[in-house]
Amino acid sequence: KKGNYEHFMQKEIHEQPESLTTTMRGRLICGGSSKAKSVLLGGLKDHLKTIRRSRRIVFIGCGTSYNAALAARPFLEELSGVPVTMEIASDLLDRQGPIYREDTTVFVSQSGETADTLLALQYALENGALCVGITNTVGSAIARNTHCGVHINAGCEIGVASTKAYTSQIVVMTMLALAVGADTISSQARRVAVIDGLFDLPNKVREVLKLNEELKDLAKLLVQEESLLMFGRGYNYATALEGALKVKEVALMHSEGILAGEMKHGPLALVDETLPIIVIATHDSCFSKQQSVIQQLHARKGRLIVMCTKGDAPLVCPSGSCRVIEVPHVEDCLQPVVNIIPLQLLAYHLTVLRGYNVDQPRNLAKSVTTQ
Ligand code: UD1
Ligand code: F6R
Repeated sequence: KKGNYEHFMQKEIHEQPESLTTTMRGRLICGGSSKAKSVLLGGLKDHLKTIRRSRRIVFIGCGTSYNAALAARPFLEELSGVPVTMEIASDLLDRQGPIYREDTTVFVSQSGETADTLLALQYALENGALCVGITNTVGSAIARNTHCGVHINAGCEIGVASTKAYTSQIVVMTMLALAVGADTISSQARRVAVIDGLFDLPNKVREVLKLNEELKDLAKLLVQEESLLMFGRGYNYATALEGALKVKEVALMHSEGILAGEMKHGPLALVDETLPIIVIATHDSCFSKQQSVIQQLHARKGRLIVMCTKGDAPLVCPSGSCRVIEVPHVEDCLQPVVNIIPLQLLAYHLTVLRGYNVDQPRNLAKSVTTQ
C-alpha cells in the first residue's frame, strides 16, 4: 500500500496535490462570470444562517487539528466579522470554560475519535451551542454527534504524524469562511482571488514538493542538533507551531514554534551562533515586521534559515549569509498550506537520518482515545 514509498508519512506528504483535489471536489463552484464563483458545503448549507448570527465561533481541537484551525482563523474572522476564539480541548475541559447557546463550536479532528475533543463536544452540547464537526472519518464519534459538519475527504491517513489531513483541514476551514462570510461587494475581489487560489493550490503544492532534495540536504546539516526553533506570525504562526510539532514528534528533536511578535519577551535570550532558527517570512502584510525580526536575529549572530517567497531571497537575506527556502507565492490565507510542506519534508528526512521510526513514533498513538 506504500507503493513506491518507504514510509506512509512520506507517501502522505507527497500525495497532497491529490488529497487537496479530493477535498475540494464538487465544493468549488465556478460559473462563467466571476460573480458565479462560490463554495458549496453540503453539510452546512442549512446551518449557515445560524453560524452567521452566532455571537462567537469557537474552534476546538488537539495537536495538529488545533494548529490547522489556528491557520484558518484570520480568514474566518476577516470574512465573517464574528469573533473567532481558539480552545485546546483538554484546556477547555480543565477550566470548564464558558460556552453559550449563542456560540458556534467547531470540532476539528482527523480521526473523529480523540477523547478530549469528544468530551469537549459533549460539554458544548450540554451547554446548548451549535456543534459543527470537521473530520476525516465518516461515521466517527465526532461526525455522528455534531449537529452538522464537513468531511475533509483527505483519504485514509496511516502515518501517526498528521500531514495531508492538516492541509485538507485548512482548505475546508477556508471554504467554511467563504461559505459563512456574506458575499458583499466589498469582499468580492478578495473572495474571487481566494477561490481562484484554491483551484490552483494543488499545482502550487506540486511545485513546493520539488524542494524534497533541498530539504534532505538541510536535514543532513541539522541531524546532530539538539534543538530547532521556528518563528512565525500572522497566518504562519500556525506553520511555526505545526512545523515544530512534526520535528519533535517524529524526529525526536526538541523544537519550538514561537510567535515572532513575542521574540523580545524572552526567546531572544536563547539566540547565539549555534542554535538553528527557521524564520517564516513569506510575502504578506506581516512581511516588513518579519524582515526586522530577521535583522535583529542576525545582529545577535543567529543561525538563520529563512523561508521566503520565490524571488525574495535578497530582501530577507541581504548579506547572503543565511540559508533560504524559497516557496511559491499563493493568496495569504492559503500560504500556510504551501509553507508547511518543506517543514513536513524536513521532519521526515531528519527522522530517517536519525534512524527513528517514521510511521510509529515512540510513545505515540494515531488516535488518542483516552484522557
Ligand atoms: C455528501 C456525501 C458524499 C456525496 C455528496 C453529494 C457522505 C458522507 N457524503 O457529501 O458522498 O458525494 O454528498 O452531494 O455521504 N457531518 C456532521 N459532522 C461532521 C461531518 C459531517 O454532522 O463532523 C454531516 C454533514 O452535516 C452532512 C453529512 O454529515 O449532513 C455529510 O457531510 P459531507 O460528507 O461533508 O457532505 P457532502 O460534501 O455534501
Ligand atoms: C500530530 C498528530 C496529533 C493529532 C492529535 C489530534 O501529528 O497527529 O497531534 O493531531 O492527536 O488528533 P485528531 O485530529 O484525530 O483529533
